[in-house]
Parts: sequence; structure tokens; C-alpha cells
Amino acid sequence: MTRKILVTSALPYANGSIHLGHLVEYIQTDIWVRFQKMLPKEKVAECWYVCADDTHGTPIMLRAEREGVTPEVLIDRMAWEHRRDFDGFLIGFDSYYSTNSPENREFASLIYQRLKAAGLIEPRVIEQFYDPEKAMFLPDRFIKGTCPKCGARDQYGDSCEACGATYAPTDLVDPYSAVSGAKPVRRASEHYFFRLGECADFLKDWTRSGALQPEAANKLDEWFSAGLSDWDISRDAPYFGFEIPDAPGKYFYVWLDAPVGYMASFAHLAKEKGLDFDEYWKKDSATELYHFIGKDILYFHALFWPAMLAFSGHRTPTGVFAHGFLTVDGQKMSKSRGTFITAESYLRHLDPEWLRYYYAAKLNGSMEDVDLSLEDFAARVNSDLVGKYINIASRCAGFITKHFGGKLGTFDHAAAVRVEFESASKSGGIALAYEERDYGRALREIMRLADSANQYIAEKKPWELAKQAGREAELHAVCTTALTLFRDLTLYLKPVLPRLAEQIEGFLNIPPLVWADVWTPLPVGHAINPYQHLMTRVDAKKIEAMVEENRQSLAPAPDAHSQARHAEHQQHAATPSPGPAGHPLPPAGEGTIALDDFAKVELRIARIANAEHVEGADKLLRLTLDVGPLGTRTVFAGIKSAYAPERLVGRLTVMVANLAPRKMKFGLSEGMVLAASGDQGGPFLLAPDDGAEPGMRVK
Ligand code: MSP
Ligand code: ZN
Repeated sequence: MTRKILVTSALPYANGSIHLGHLVEYIQTDIWVRFQKMLPKEKVAECWYVCADDTHGTPIMLRAEREGVTPEVLIDRMAWEHRRDFDGFLIGFDSYYSTNSPENREFASLIYQRLKAAGLIEPRVIEQFYDPEKAMFLPDRFIKGTCPKCGARDQYGDSCEACGATYAPTDLVDPYSAVSGAKPVRRASEHYFFRLGECADFLKDWTRSGALQPEAANKLDEWFSAGLSDWDISRDAPYFGFEIPDAPGKYFYVWLDAPVGYMASFAHLAKEKGLDFDEYWKKDSATELYHFIGKDILYFHALFWPAMLAFSGHRTPTGVFAHGFLTVDGQKMSKSRGTFITAESYLRHLDPEWLRYYYAAKLNGSMEDVDLSLEDFAARVNSDLVGKYINIASRCAGFITKHFGGKLGTFDHAAAVRVEFESASKSGGIALAYEERDYGRALREIMRLADSANQYIAEKKPWELAKQAGREAELHAVCTTALTLFRDLTLYLKPVLPRLAEQIEGFLNIPPLVWADVWTPLPVGHAINPYQHLMTRVDAKKIEAMVEENRQSLAPAPDAHSQARHAEHQQHAATPSPGPAGHPLPPAGEGTIALDDFAKVELRIARIANAEHVEGADKLLRLTLDVGPLGTRTVFAGIKSAYAPERLVGRLTVMVANLAPRKMKFGLSEGMVLAASGDQGGPFLLAPDDGAEPGMRVK
């Protein structure tokens, strides 16, 4: 049976940049797809890889508002950035689309209507926190307040970062809206629920169909025993998303239309390539559908999504492949340590194929976390790729060019290494490891072969043969053999290192390598091109530079949960601590501060992205500041007497970036801009000289 395969990676949120954590998934999926595409058509007739940006929801809506643009403008910009980053890492999507597309609206509505017709949608009135100033319901993460357990201020609605307590937003003392600062009120409204409990029998069967890894199936059993709750799939206006058919003012919750985005992206591809959409999505389809996801979104992909599909008359996934989370040097990625590394920043310093190789070496198809040890990363790439693999070509190719006019000779069939390569190709072990997503096993096998090839070269010593008269034939055979083995290694590594493989295809002067080429001879007399440098060693200095670039001071950023928290702790630490007898420590000197005190103030260049009047405030302007890599901030500045808002837009200024956010009557102020004033006039906003960029540190 020839296989037809559709593969997806989870759709990245449009409100964040792609980082090395995300890439665990996109690289893992891309390797699998590239492997499938190298197989003969009789085995795999088609394999398509689709993805999209996940564009809807409250955070996107609020961020767009803060930046003074429409959500559509914001998601377009993010889509552009995401594509750029994925291209940089050689992720070969066949279609990269958007959940904010007409196809997605159509499929989401269709699925909803079918679920409704099947009696699986139920309206229910629920009570939630509502921001009376902003006139919107508040998702939990937009409610802050004082921890009911330990009294720490400015904690989020679900848990306290100071003492670790978890609670409901209703338990917070003095709750306030993180959007406007207003005191939220309780308000009732009608929501639509998907009756997941009704799908339990189907889901239990599906779980046993072999679509899940054993660890994932165990997790599901836990969820089954806890009982499946119905799922709230609607949100009230204002919301950036799709309005629910026949329910004005009600929108699909972002997680309803997000997985439908897989269908929409495929529909978009199908139209472009003339594929049959239904062949892939109809009930009992003979094609295969695989979702690569992180373990954090298993619930959505192993419960909601198969139920949505099955009860709307569609096929269900053939496999859901969950992976673990990225840690860097054994710890969660961290902005203050500089290990929250964006894709963009990595690419500025390092080669994407190094990371592809390193992740591949670490992935084994399980849900275990993946650790990126920066030291091990450099050592591994240098020893495996440069030291073992590339070395084979760099040691042998020159002789072919110099002594034999660039033409290959005969293969050394007597070589012991031949047996190993031949049996590796016959056993199909490497292919199987790829198929099973155990890339670590595939690469161990490949490097074992590379070791043997190197051993062969070390024994034959072509550099000595070249110096001895009458041994040309031997030299020719040794180099030809080494390059043929190198060709096989390249083929095996091609799913992981597609760009390097392409370069090597050019060097060896051969058509794009496919799996069937393994262990086929290169013809005698075949002309190769002169060897050119293929890959450099990882330089530890570049890794350091990258980490430094990502190391953010402990500044609050509006959309970085934990980061804001750190800033608050920082603030507390900055207040004078009591001396030995409980008295405040004396100040460093009358009217002076220590250098350390100044260093606590983080000044940054900011571009005023938007400025507007604040209703009811006669001195204040609301500024939206673009702080480069730190994102955007809203700041209320008392400069209205001197500046018309439209005069400010586009200007650069200086801001205090690590001031704890302050709740003001008009909303949350996330910093402070600097201005001079005196008896002679003002305020005069400070501005840097030409050439400064948003986000630069002022020291
Ligand atoms: N938008 C949802 C997915 C919707 S799919 C219909 C989402 N987006 S995400 O941007 O947060 O994550 C995208 C994928 O990247 C998820 O599979 C997630 O698990 C994965 N990762 C995000 N951060 C990660 C790490 N730090 N480590 C490994 N994978 C991680 O979830
Ligand atoms: Zn607490």
C-alpha cells in the first residue's frame, strides 16, 4: 500500500516570537517529513507538511490595542517574522497559513454546526470577572491582586509566585484588572459548552487505537478517571476571533478554531496543488494524519480535537506525537540568564544546521524534556559533524581533483568498511529509526559508520600514497571509496542537514539524494567538483555573544508573566533592609548614591509608537513605547502641557524600563519617560542622538 501522509506541527501563537523551545518541535517534524519525502513514491506517494499562525484571542487583541494597530496588522507582521525564522531554520512547510482565514472560518463554523446538530453543544449561564472600565470579561491571567495566603501583591489570578499557592481568581484580595487597573465586578453571561463527557466512550476507544505514545495514553487514563468536564468554547465580545453563527456578540474561543487551522492550511494547499481535500479529511480516510505537539497541549489534541473531528463526520488523527520541553543547561529557559533565546538571535550568531543536528541527537520519540547544554552543543557539533563527517571529504577530495582530473575511479570492494555500510543499508535500521522518530538512534548509527570510514582512511593514509610513485591506482581507489561512503553518510543525514546535503550534492555533482540511492555505486569516471569548505567549527565566543544578547535585565514586560514578577521582587530588594538592630542601614552618604544604586535603574531608548489624550486627565498623555526586544509598554506621562500627542509619535526618548508597574486611576503604567523641567519651562522630553535604536541600554 502506498502511503499518503499529512503532517502538522502545532500552530505558534501570533503574539510571541519563535524561540529555541518552539524549534524542538518544528525541527523534529521537519526531519520526519524530509525523511518521508526521500522515500520512493511506491512507499510514500505523498507527504504534506502544513502549519499556520494561531492568531485569535484576548492577548493579541490587547497587544494590538496597546501598539495602536488593528489585530490584522499585528498578526500580519508576526506571520512575516515567523516565516522568516522558520525559513532560517530550514523548516520546509508545504503550506504556512493563518487561522484568521476564510477557510478556517468556514470549517470552524461547519464543525460547530455539526456538533450542535448532534446535541453536543449546550448553552449555560456562567459568572465571571468583568472589567467595567474596559467593558470586557477578563480571562484569569488578566486579573491580578493580593495573594490570599501570603499577602504578596500583584499576583496573577491562578497562582502566587511568591508562595506557590494556587487558587481561583475570586480568592484574590483586592483584585484588579491587569488591563485597566479597575476593580473587576462579577457578571453573568451565556456561554456555549461542548459536552465532552458525552464523547468519553468514543475517546476511550480512540485512545487504545495506537494513536498515542504509551506515556500519553497513561495521561489520558488519568483524565478519564478524573472525569471529562464540558468545555467552554465561546467568549463574549470584544474578542478577536470568529463570531459564532447565529449567536451575535459570541465568538469561538481561540482553542476551538486553532486545530481547525490544520484543515484550513491543508485546504489552502489543496487548492494550490489540485489535491482532493476530502480524501484527507473524510471519515475513514485511507490517508494518514499526524500531529506533532508539545506535551503541554496534549489535552487539546488527544481529547477535544479527535472528539470534534469524529462527531462532525471527519476522520480522526492516525497519530499524535508529543515531545517534551526544552531546558537549557538543565534549567527552564530564562530571560535573566539569557537562555530564552529567540530564533532570530540564534541565526544572527550560529548555523541553523548545528541546532538541527544537536536536537536530532537528543530526540528519541518520547515525551522526555530535551536539554540543550551549550557546552555539549559545541563539543558535539565539532566532534561529530566537523571532526568525523566533513573530515572524510576534506581529507580525500583534493587528491581526486589534483591527481585524477576530478574523476572518480573504482570502489575498493576489499575494504572491511564496505561490509558495514552495505549491511547498514540492507538492514534499514537507520530508516526505521527515523520513521520511529528515534533520531538519536539514527545518528548514533550514522556516526558509527562515519567512525569506520575514518578508520579506513587512517589505515590507508592517502596523503602518504600521494607521495609514493606507482601507487596512483591505490590512491584513486581509496579516495573514491571514501567519497562514496561520504555520499551515503550525506544521504543518511539529509533529513537533518538539508542545506549541507544540497551543497554536497553540488560538490559531488549528483542529483538530489533520495533513499533509493543508498549503496549504489558512483560510476567510474564520474566527475566531481573541486572541494570547497563545507562547515566551520562552533566558536564558543559566538555562543557567549548570543546568550549575552538574550540576557534581559529584570525588567517588567507586559506579556511576560514571570518576568514582571521578578521586577517586583527586585523592587522589594531595593528598599533599605534593616540593620543588625532592626534600624535602617545608614545611606551611603548625604545626597549621594553608590554606583550600585544607579545601576539598579534600567534606562532604555524607546520609540513613541503612539500618544493620546487620557480622558479626564489634564496633565497626562498615554504613551505606547516600543522598546525593541523588550516589546511595548504603556506609560502615563505628565507632559501634556508641552506636547500635542501627534508631535510625539515616532520620536525616540529615554525611559526607565524596570520600574514596577503602577496601577493608576487611568490604567497600568509600565515605566516612566525622562524629561527635564525647571523655572524656565518644560517639560522637555529627553532624546538620544541619531543612530540610537529602541531597546538600547542607556548607561
Ligand atoms: N497556539 C498553540 C497551539 C495550537 S495548535 C492547534 C500553542 N502555541 S505555542 O506557540 O505556545 O507553542 C507552539 C508549540 O511549541 C507547542 O506544541 C508547544 O508545546 C511548543 N513549545 C513551546 N515552547 C516550548 C518549549 N520551551 N519546549 C518545547 N516545546 C515548546 O501552544
Ligand atoms: Zn502567596
